[in-house]
Amino acid sequence: MTLDQIYTDGIAVEDETQASHDYSERARRHLWLQMSRMGAYDETNEIPIMVRGEGTRVYDANGKEYFDGLSGLFTNMLGHGRREISIAAAEQMNKMAFFPLWTYAHPTAIELAEKLAALAPGDLNRVFFTTGGAEANESAWKLARQYHRIRGDTDRYKVISRDIAYHGTTMGALTITSLDAYRKPFEPLVPGAVKVPSVNFYRTEKYGDDYDAFGLWSARQIEEAILREGPDTVAAVFLEPVQNAGGCFTPPRSYWREVRAICDRYGVLLVSDDVICAFGRLGTWFGGQKYDYVPDIITCAKGLTAGYAPLGAMIVSDRIAEPFQHEDQSFVHGFTWSGHPVSCAVALASIKIMEDERVLQNVLKNELYFHERLLSLKDLPIVGDIRGTGYFWGVELVKNQTTKETWSGLDAQRLLRGYVSPEMFRRGLICRSDDRGDPVVQLAPPLISTRNDIDHIVGILREVFTGATKLL
Ligand SMILES: Cc1ncc(COP(=O)(O)O)c(C=O)c1O
Repeated sequence: MTLDQIYTDGIAVEDETQASHDYSERARRHLWLQMSRMGAYDETNEIPIMVRGEGTRVYDANGKEYFDGLSGLFTNMLGHGRREISIAAAEQMNKMAFFPLWTYAHPTAIELAEKLAALAPGDLNRVFFTTGGAEANESAWKLARQYHRIRGDTDRYKVISRDIAYHGTTMGALTITSLDAYRKPFEPLVPGAVKVPSVNFYRTEKYGDDYDAFGLWSARQIEEAILREGPDTVAAVFLEPVQNAGGCFTPPRSYWREVRAICDRYGVLLVSDDVICAFGRLGTWFGGQKYDYVPDIITCAKGLTAGYAPLGAMIVSDRIAEPFQHEDQSFVHGFTWSGHPVSCAVALASIKIMEDERVLQNVLKNELYFHERLLSLKDLPIVGDIRGTGYFWGVELVKNQTTKETWSGLDAQRLLRGYVSPEMFRRGLICRSDDRGDPVVQLAPPLISTRNDIDHIVGILREVFTGATKLL
């Protein structure tokens, strides 16, 4: 079977069900899935095997179609099967497959760095590549620490981040991450992690309907933490523009203005973890453009290559990069694969498509429609809060809309793992049911999704949530 036949015929096997079963067995034996309970899979509960994608849809080994409602893992911004990108990758492989960025440079990394500097807000003009998001955050914390040290501020090593937030799983990034279930097995972690509350407006009792006042209060939690720890011990604050874990917490603009001012007041670096939010997820290139702030460092990955190759980056302001430009200084840090020429070529091709096809405008044009369609689900008693922006939305599920009583512990598992997730999957919608905070269903479709796609998503949500009300 040729590659073209696979594309046109779908599945390259005669007995699809058998192939799916075989794959699942072999996967169970040899493939260790990330963050997965391997013991939960057996002959009756097979590992789903996804074999191909086309546009906003993916297909499993049985030929069943799914809507890619989480864009892979917040990665597949342009959907599947963009030949321009695979051609760009092949051309770069033929020209030069790999050369490191350790003391050398190559054209695709230079061109991409230049492009990212042009797209980023403010004076964030210098790009340090990694291969993913955790490495970008790891790099940013280390950069912040070395930056302060070079300038004689030798006691600044601590890092502030928000409750429930996820920033990656390497030891440094895990330290910045605030999810106990991920942290506990690996403690002690890196010293110096300080936590502040998430910006969860739905569940706060402060400030009633005054979102901006709540934003200011939330920002001041960071100031209080800095003062409590001692300002000259804090290196950086890590915040996502919209916090993913916990379900799309969208802070008000007042929050970012105040956070920026606080960081400036105490000489603490503001790191915007844009690993999910960049490259159009919010309808802008970076979160700072959506919420009107300029961080000192942006970390990004995922959508940078639209999921076609692994790549991450740290985009650094001229001010923070400056002390490293002297002859006797270097940022003593790096990864072999950082800025892989093929990944950079892929990122350039993907960004070009986003520009040529006005993909960000598609998101901005449809974000209100998405919101309205999700709000229409509020007639179901299990639907609590709807929050998000762009193509990044969370639906929080509650036991009681009036009291906001949540599903917790085994109840939450019964709801999400026992019903909502399998039902979404059975109906062909891939999205995330998340119980890392209060139970939430998250949607982050490819940025090329149309209003029909949004209707399709919301239609399935309605069916599943209607069924789930029986569990109330
Ligand atoms: C906000 C955020 N930061 C960092 C990461 C880590 O990225 P990676 O899995 O590429 O290491 C993730 C991954 O989901 C993320 O959502």
